[in-house]
Amino acid sequence: MNLSMSRLAVIIGVGALFLVLVLAGTAVLRMGSSGTTSIATGIATIGGPFALTDHNGRAVTQNDFRGRFMLAYFGYTYCPDVCPTTLTTMGDALRELGSAGNAIVPVFITVDPKRDTADHLKVYVPYFHPRLVGLTGSAQQVAAAAKEFRIYFSKAPDKTAPAEDDSYLMDHSSIVYLMGPDGRFLTHFSHGTSVSEMVKKIRGFL
Ligand code: NI
Repeated sequence: MNLSMSRLAVIIGVGALFLVLVLAGTAVLRMGSSGTTSIATGIATIGGPFALTDHNGRAVTQNDFRGRFMLAYFGYTYCPDVCPTTLTTMGDALRELGSAGNAIVPVFITVDPKRDTADHLKVYVPYFHPRLVGLTGSAQQVAAAAKEFRIYFSKAPDKTAPAEDDSYLMDHSSIVYLMGPDGRFLTHFSHGTSVSEMVKKIRGFL
């Protein structure tokens, strides 16, 4: 009786472990099929060192954000739709979090440093939240930061602009990252996440 009970326990244990492995595998596959394989497989490596300039012209690195949560988004100010929508959601979520939201630094990192200078960002960021930090840098610095966060971006022609116009668009990943006070990746929000969803998920980490 004792022997069979312990065998049963082992069988249940192995079965549970197998189920966990299957579920974990399914989760990764599901994320992969939605095109976010890099997130599913690279969670531990999202985020890293960067050297940029904030909208006040001050040189900053990842260390300037230690001790506080960072809600980070890569985009560009000339973005006609996606970036303003996402930044609005971030700003609204922080307002809804109230004083608890003070533990979070919202950050907007440009993928278009040629046009998004510090001075330009300084005018742009307050539209979304009074504490939103705009970050820019040299093309190399921005590319390096985007790489650390697994952000894709690429210059694209603006087909709606006159041919002689040199305006352009930037294709880019649209993902909001929540980084912990230690700089580690906590979670991400895909494009279209609602304010209430974002608030709920963030609250779980505060
Ligand atoms: Ni955009």
